[in-house]
Amino acid sequence: METRHNFGSKIGAVLASAGSAVGLGNVWRFPTEVGNNGGAAFIFVYLLCIAVIGIPVMMSEFLIGRHTHANTITAFSKLAPGKWWRIEGIAGVFVAFMILSYYIIVSGWTLFYLVKSVGGQLMADKDYNLVFNDFVSNPWQPVLAGIVFMGLTHFIIARGVQSGIEKFSKLMMPMLLLIIGILVVCSFSMPGSSDGMRFLLKPDFSKLTANVLLSAVGQAFYSLSLAMGCLCTYASYFRQDTNLPKTAAGVSIIDTLVAILSGFIIFPAVFSVEGVSVDAGPGLVFITLPSVFNIAFHHIPLLGYFFSGFFYLLLLLAALTSAMSLHESVTAYLLEAFRISRRKASTIVSVSCMTLGVACSLSFGVWSHLTLFGLNIFELFDFTASKIILPIGGIIICIFTGWYLDRKLVESELTNNGTLRFRLFRLWYFLIRFVAPFAIAAVFLQELLA
Ligand code: TRP
Repeated sequence: METRHNFGSKIGAVLASAGSAVGLGNVWRFPTEVGNNGGAAFIFVYLLCIAVIGIPVMMSEFLIGRHTHANTITAFSKLAPGKWWRIEGIAGVFVAFMILSYYIIVSGWTLFYLVKSVGGQLMADKDYNLVFNDFVSNPWQPVLAGIVFMGLTHFIIARGVQSGIEKFSKLMMPMLLLIIGILVVCSFSMPGSSDGMRFLLKPDFSKLTANVLLSAVGQAFYSLSLAMGCLCTYASYFRQDTNLPKTAAGVSIIDTLVAILSGFIIFPAVFSVEGVSVDAGPGLVFITLPSVFNIAFHHIPLLGYFFSGFFYLLLLLAALTSAMSLHESVTAYLLEAFRISRRKASTIVSVSCMTLGVACSLSFGVWSHLTLFGLNIFELFDFTASKIILPIGGIIICIFTGWYLDRKLVESELTNNGTLRFRLFRLWYFLIRFVAPFAIAAVFLQELLA
């Protein structure tokens, strides 16, 4: 069995966790949700969810991981001997595997769009609806793109915790933040962008329905990578002197900032072009945005070329650091439970995920007739993972840390054995016991009954 490594530095731990959190959820899903749910009012509720539910649950995952220094399944067995709590760990690893299988397909799309942008073809196209639909329904192109993306993820994970995950997070996260900065400035300087700003900053609280509220909770969970053991696994590599509450706050702030800045990149651009709708749904970044680039930079194609190239590079980097964390939570389990080498464990994960990924990809084309409850394979994976197992997992984690674990153990882990002060401990404990589980239960029931 290989020796277990830790992240070498605190900044490495923060950047790796932030890399897990910042992903397609921020740059692709968040703007879509904002567009569908009326702009600033949604953002307001979203911020509230991050503070009241997101950060407390993230701290719980961190403390479970760091206390046990083990993969998610072993972590639950160590803290709670007996069979039942272990199921939560198993569900976490299983769902990470499931999400990864379709995550790599969407990530493959971003890779394809990046290559098209850099090659100059994207700005030459006209009908972006057709381009997108032709591509995703093609039997082999998106599969190939997914394989290349999986290859990148595999390469990093096979290198291990320090020279893989930590090193590449330290390299990619600053690049990602820099690209965001450049794009925000570009987007602001477009004519007509002030309408986009107003949409993002001026809340219209009459738009706040129960549904908007609940979408915000769901988005907060997805975006922070909660409830599936990804952050538990990363926290198991944290050093003993890492300040867990501070790290959770830092990671959540970076994640939220990236989400909001992505909104500031996309909406001013969208509003600067007449006749383009903000509530375009999932096609926003693959269909709406290229047409916006095309029209807005009609007179200066070179700018369109750079803007779109940087944008898809941003999306790709974000997707890659998140895929790494999904991959690692499964790999860490195989490696430790079956005592096999990292190379073997990561290969098993990559190959089997890719096989499922092929099925997900084909469900947009030749297998689109294979449906269950009206959902194709891709949608079924997304639905089961993020709408069913994720909220249940979130509630269980709250009950586990808030009600099952000994309060002394929890407090001593969050304060590094009493060497750190954590003034808000009582507030945190209250949120994790009483507020978060009920809020999540409300979302879950609403999703289920809707
Ligand atoms: N948070 C990532 C994103 O924003 C996706 C992700 C990675 C995730 N790991 C997760 C979501 C675990 C839920 C649970 O794209």
